[in-house]
Amino acid sequence: MEHLPFKTGIITGSLRRDSFSLKMAHCVMKLYPSFMYELISLCDLTLYNEDLETDTPPEGWKNFRESVKDQDAILFITPEYNRSVPAVLKNAIDIGSAPHGRNVFNRKPTAVISLSPGKMGAFGANHHLRQSLVFLNMPVMQQPEAYLGESGKLIGGDGMIANQVTEDFLRGFMEEFQKWVALHSSAEKY
Ligand code: FNR
Repeated sequence: MEHLPFKTGIITGSLRRDSFSLKMAHCVMKLYPSFMYELISLCDLTLYNEDLETDTPPEGWKNFRESVKDQDAILFITPEYNRSVPAVLKNAIDIGSAPHGRNVFNRKPTAVISLSPGKMGAFGANHHLRQSLVFLNMPVMQQPEAYLGESGKLIGGDGMIANQVTEDFLRGFMEEFQKWVALHSSAEKY
């Protein structure tokens, strides 16, 4: 595949210092190093407010939009809040999608990994996120789906995936994502 390695931004839906989502992002980067990764931080994103959409929008918004624009693909790794996407992630999506006609997510292939300390693997967040991704015009990998339950047990003290089944699953997921990105990337920029 001539375009490898693809630049892939990872966006996690949590600001928490000890976030399982962030730890999972580091696990994915280690266990599947074939992408060129960038962790795209949401820490400096003030709440979206159209009044700030001037010639000089907030610096955090500008940096976030540039970081997303620079990627070939985006991987979302998110927890669930109240059966939906955490507000910080929805805010980031809103910022990246605006102003009208300048959606930086447009046409970037993507995939979603959701995780939760509970058993349902943040299914609700995963699917609410997919709803927004349709409107962002992002080709979203359909299969495999990744709903990781019991996130507190998945990552060992060494920062690696603690069980072989999950490790194999994630490696397979990322292999499929690489094929998905190759399929949807084009030398021609839109
Ligand atoms: C949660 N949590 C949670 N978990 C879940 O499986 N379904 C849910 O709907 C919710 N809702 C929810 C709302 C709020 C406001 C908080 C603070 C938490 C628990 C959540 O999954 C857990 O705190 C994760 O560890 C958060 O992800 P990070 O920060 O570890 O990545």
